[in-house]
Amino acid sequence: MTPFVDLKGKRVILGVTGGIAAYKAAELLRLMVKEGAQVWTVMTKAATEFVTPLTFQALSGNPVRTDMFSPLQEGQIEHIALADLAQVAIVAPATANFIAKLAHGIADDMLTTTLLATKCPIVVCPAMNVNMYNHPATQANLHVLKERGVWVVEPEEGELACGWEGKGRLAELDTIVETARCALSPQDMVGERVVVTAGPTWEALDPVRFISNRSSGKMGFSVARIAKRRGASVTLISGPTALKPPPGVKFLTVESARQMRDAVMEHLEEATVVVKAAAVADYCPLEAKREKIKKESEIWSISLGRTPDILSEVGARKGERILVGFAAETHELISNAREKLERKNLDWIVANDVTYPGAGFGRDTNKVTLLGRGGVVVDLPLMSKDEVAWAIVDKIVESRRCARG
Ligand code: CTP
Repeated sequence: MTPFVDLKGKRVILGVTGGIAAYKAAELLRLMVKEGAQVWTVMTKAATEFVTPLTFQALSGNPVRTDMFSPLQEGQIEHIALADLAQVAIVAPATANFIAKLAHGIADDMLTTTLLATKCPIVVCPAMNVNMYNHPATQANLHVLKERGVWVVEPEEGELACGWEGKGRLAELDTIVETARCALSPQDMVGERVVVTAGPTWEALDPVRFISNRSSGKMGFSVARIAKRRGASVTLISGPTALKPPPGVKFLTVESARQMRDAVMEHLEEATVVVKAAAVADYCPLEAKREKIKKESEIWSISLGRTPDILSEVGARKGERILVGFAAETHELISNAREKLERKNLDWIVANDVTYPGAGFGRDTNKVTLLGRGGVVVDLPLMSKDEVAWAIVDKIVESRRCARG
């Protein structure tokens, strides 16, 4: 298994340049420290006009560098050493002036010098006035940086501090942190177009009632997040959940099994990988009433009919695609799951013992066994759903390598 990548234990440079969004960099730092990163902040002189170095020092527990020439204080690291030690560098906010300097290799302060000296991946998060952002000079500089492999986190549209409306707000902090994780991860899913399904389905009885199950959607959202983190382009088709879609993922919501089937079929042509983590209802009411059903008799029976088996339909049209299914079981885990693997024509099935303490519906952790063709069995310990997703993506990468020979 390739090592799971998040920010835990990672050595990070946080570059802060002089824009009004500099105050948001403090919260960004806090998020990274919370995940276990070690962060060294480097500020431009202009940035110190907006927020004091002390804020970043207190939040990171590390001294903050602002100046090339002041003598090193206790615990400070010389800029080349810092450049060598960092595993990822994030500049947030990045002003137009800083972007121009980075694009042209100008090294006239501590931050630009450090970034010119480092070999680690760089994540640049522009934030500025919309006209400065759209200016051909800024766009050309960003183009140069992207061509050079710098990760650029596009700013968002909205109300800007300068009074203008438009593109220029610093991206959401979650998006910036996730981009840093991407920059640290193997990009072994580049070129794959992954369709993931997640969550429960709602099968309507009338306008206010439905039949559903306990799925939270977390497992499927993790698969979407990790496939994207490793470079895939991802479409996440989800039943109703309370979760926020992972950054950079195309997100479609559906309600019923029928709607989920139609959405999957619509995206099947372009997909190279399909992962069906959704807990699709196997039965739905034969008829959904147009009006609310009134209570009458003591006992009420409803007739249910089968829903389309989406995974079997995808399996029948598999082609070169890699197909991964899930089997949530309460007994005979391995034999039930293997039977589904064969019957639905899958490459992998994720066998999930939902009775295991700490595993299954609604939890942040899961305990699964991955079953592959030809009798392959990979028994995984209890781990976070993101780590389970990482192991699944490993197997997809492995299957693709085998298929290519
Ligand atoms: N699945 C699907 N469409 C359905 C039902 C299930 O695509 N109508 C998919 C699920 O997303 C999952 C896999 O099939 O990836 C296994 O689902 P499960 O309900 O456990 O399997 P079934 O084949 O329905 O078997 P059983 O209910 O008898 O356990």
